[in-house]
Amino acid sequence: MSPEITAFFDDATNTISYVVRDPGGRACAIIDSVLDFDYASGRTDTKSADAIVDFVRSEGLDTQWLLETHVHADHLSAAPYLQEQLGGKIGIGDNIRVVQDTFGKVFNEGTEFQRDGSQFDQLFNEGDSFHIGQLRGDVLHTPGHTPACMTYVIGDAAFVGDTLFMPDFGTARCDFPGGSSETLYASIQKILSLPDDTRIFVGHDYKAPGRDEYAWESTVGEQKARNVHVGDGADKDSFVKMRDARDAKLPMPKLIIPSLQVNMRAGHMPPEDEEGNVFLKVPVNKL
Ligand SMILES: [Fe+2]
Repeated sequence: MSPEITAFFDDATNTISYVVRDPGGRACAIIDSVLDFDYASGRTDTKSADAIVDFVRSEGLDTQWLLETHVHADHLSAAPYLQEQLGGKIGIGDNIRVVQDTFGKVFNEGTEFQRDGSQFDQLFNEGDSFHIGQLRGDVLHTPGHTPACMTYVIGDAAFVGDTLFMPDFGTARCDFPGGSSETLYASIQKILSLPDDTRIFVGHDYKAPGRDEYAWESTVGEQKARNVHVGDGADKDSFVKMRDARDAKLPMPKLIIPSLQVNMRAGHMPPEDEEGNVFLKVPVNKL
């Protein structure tokens, strides 16, 4: 079955959020939403998320799932806001527990911060399946960019998060804590073993040399033939060498510090202090 997919591109973070709809009904899932955050002022905004809320309401859709492909380091998730507005269960990979443990330490979180994934409604493992109305979703564990990265294969569409990007851009970085270029290579082979006509929807796009438009959809066949990092049978050793050399030169994403603290809590802010104020921390010389 072929889901109806509507993409929402966030200019501030180059993130693509997706509404995935069962063509035979009203059920939908929302994948990788964005809560706007202005770091300079510490202010959040729901403009991006409201575009999705408006779309879901105007189409009369029933939101069943709010899926995260991973703990994003470059934008805050709007999943709790969308849940409040539209309903649905928040799901992420079971390895979130590893990510929570790592960043619980980095941010010196106290015992209030549970590292068991209990902030999420559903933790997925490799081989799990779920439904969006009559549509079936299958879950692949595709770590490498982070330990908890999942690919959601829904009908003929695979939502790969930050594993593969568009064929002309390549692949995601592997230098965050718990990342591994060798692991990412193996995960990408798993994605590329899906049928050639499987549609691939990526989590980010940054254009690419010679391309003026943002893009987010390709196919397994196109990725296998043309991905500049892993296409045309690129071998593991040369991929790992290339990926590690590239990652060594990349700056940290602008919003990594607020994003991790919020996204490891399923998109919730840290708890309020006695006066109802909310604070995010900046760990010095830790990342
Ligand atoms: Fe990411």
